[in-house]
Amino acid sequence: MDYSQKISERQWNLPEKGELESRREETYIDDIIQKDHIQRKLLEHMDGIRTVFDGGAGSGRFPALPAKQGCRVTHFDISQPMIDKAKELAEAAGVSDRITFVKGAHEELNNYPNKSFDLVMSFDAPISYTYPNQNRVIENLMRMAKKRKAFSVSSRLGTLPYLCNPVQKTQFILDEKCADPFVQWSVANCEKMIRDFHFDKQNAERVMTDELERILRGFGVRNIQLSGPGAYGARFRGRFCSG
Ligand SMILES: C[S@@+](CC[C@H](N)C(=O)[O-])C[C@H]1O[C@@H](n2cnc3c(N)ncnc32)[C@H](O)[C@@H]1O
Repeated sequence: MDYSQKISERQWNLPEKGELESRREETYIDDIIQKDHIQRKLLEHMDGIRTVFDGGAGSGRFPALPAKQGCRVTHFDISQPMIDKAKELAEAAGVSDRITFVKGAHEELNNYPNKSFDLVMSFDAPISYTYPNQNRVIENLMRMAKKRKAFSVSSRLGTLPYLCNPVQKTQFILDEKCADPFVQWSVANCEKMIRDFHFDKQNAERVMTDELERILRGFGVRNIQLSGPGAYGARFRGRFCSG
């Protein structure tokens, strides 16, 4: 088993993960904006889409939208707590009959045939949590898509805000008294983080190269457009796809 897979299993299978991730929009204002932005982009490009694969779908922040549009969605994730929470939320949203839940690792997508889904999406998962296998994972996700692709990354390019601002996430906290352990840690350590902060310009410039764009160009995706921080859209063979 790849070590990226082992790390993901250990980190994402913690029992409280599903609940915490499902509360992102209650906890951070930037997550509200990110979700709204991605949903709007998805809605703009749903024509002709009947089947959807969401890789690293987490607690189900995005699969419900295509399911509500009548699509059949495969919710794929390495974490059972995430899948359990997503099932609960899909039931509540009345879309569980249109979503198939699959527990699996991005590193093991080889059995899915080429072009098996109209839309393949993967937000904040393919690069962030499969390093150093991100090229192979993205190549697999791309070949599984028949019409469109929508990917985003967080921690690799998303490291940049942290390199420039030690309390990047802290400033987006909605309720400083909420029980989320990371919120409590951030509030308790805010002053220390600012005091000890050192801006490393050389390191910041190194990570500014957008890895997702480079990987997609390497696989022949053209006309790539930035559609949000860390997210790209592209016209490919005359149709919109995003990478
Ligand atoms: C930051 S969350 C993003 C969840 C969802 N896409 C969203 O944007 O709300 C990352 C997700 O990727 C999943 N994940 C991490 N590593 C994975 C891997 N190697 N294979 C499949 N899923 C993975 C985690 O379990 C987690 O649900």
